[in-house]
Amino acid sequence: MRTIDWNDESKSVVMIDQTLLPVELNVIECKNLASLCEAIRSLRVRGAPALAAAGGFGMALAVTLSSADSMEKLLNDLKVAASTLIATRPTAVNLAWAVNRVLKATEDSYDLESIKDIVVFEAIRIADEDVEINKAIGKYGQKLLDDGDTVMTHCNAGRMACVDWGTALGVIRSAVEKGKEISVIACETRPLNQGGRITTWELMQDKIPVKLITDSMSGHVMRHGMVDKMIVGADRITQDVVFNKIGTYTHSIVAREHEIPFYVAAPVSTFDPNGWEDTVTIEQRDADELRYIGDVQIAPKNVDVYNPAFDATPMENITALITEKGIFEPPVLIDEILM
Ligand code: MRU
Repeated sequence: MRTIDWNDESKSVVMIDQTLLPVELNVIECKNLASLCEAIRSLRVRGAPALAAAGGFGMALAVTLSSADSMEKLLNDLKVAASTLIATRPTAVNLAWAVNRVLKATEDSYDLESIKDIVVFEAIRIADEDVEINKAIGKYGQKLLDDGDTVMTHCNAGRMACVDWGTALGVIRSAVEKGKEISVIACETRPLNQGGRITTWELMQDKIPVKLITDSMSGHVMRHGMVDKMIVGADRITQDVVFNKIGTYTHSIVAREHEIPFYVAAPVSTFDPNGWEDTVTIEQRDADELRYIGDVQIAPKNVDVYNPAFDATPMENITALITEKGIFEPPVLIDEILM
């Protein structure tokens, strides 16, 4: 099944609860905006492209549940829902991109019913397009991988981070589909272990060989020639940097030191043409993510904690950006890619 989808019968958003992976594969249903926002904040759905789908479906929930009796009131309800959704996770720009795309689509509406139809239609279209886009990213990206390569990745940029297929893992899947033998080194990705829990699980399901390491081992494995290429996803790409899961920057420095190609695979909805590193808010997460693993306390209860969810990797550390429009080597002009 898809990571996240719209159920038109029950007018709800269905998703795999990623906080339970790999122990349990559980599907949950969000029937209102509050439960969807909770699912986004607690990372039941996560990963920039999946957040775009969640944003679009959030608007579909809002339009379905609104009791507005005029176009003006309904459009106002949608604007309020849009702000609520965008505020749930500030760094991954895809969420805001999707919400704004749905809002923009309502400009073509002419009555109450047409607004409802347009919003749901556009949300479903965003999710459907995501799958096609990931396949296109894979088609271009697989050309960069050679038979026998070992590819290191960080966090989870696989089908669970998207509607299906994946960006970074999509490139690997497409290479495997072409008959290349690829093995993967997955970094654990502390503190929430998306690499250890989700990337490994996804790849093992597809029978793609994967080895799990802690984040702190990446320098060691690169120094010992165990990595041919690194591919990660992205949460936001500005003119000067790529924002991705915390730890990506460190890997990029080690990769550069060891002349290992460092690729970023992302849809163009991840580009923020007006953004620069210092204009972007990096999401700060709850301190208890570092003090506990599940219910188990692993640090003093009141220890002061710094827990940014993302970091910024400068373009000079990136060999190429892999998008559905092709492969681009920095320095890049985002406006030209988006044209
Ligand atoms: O906090 P998360 O799990 O949402 O962070 C996800 C990442 O950083 C991914 O690498 C990124 O969203 C790209 S997913 C295709």
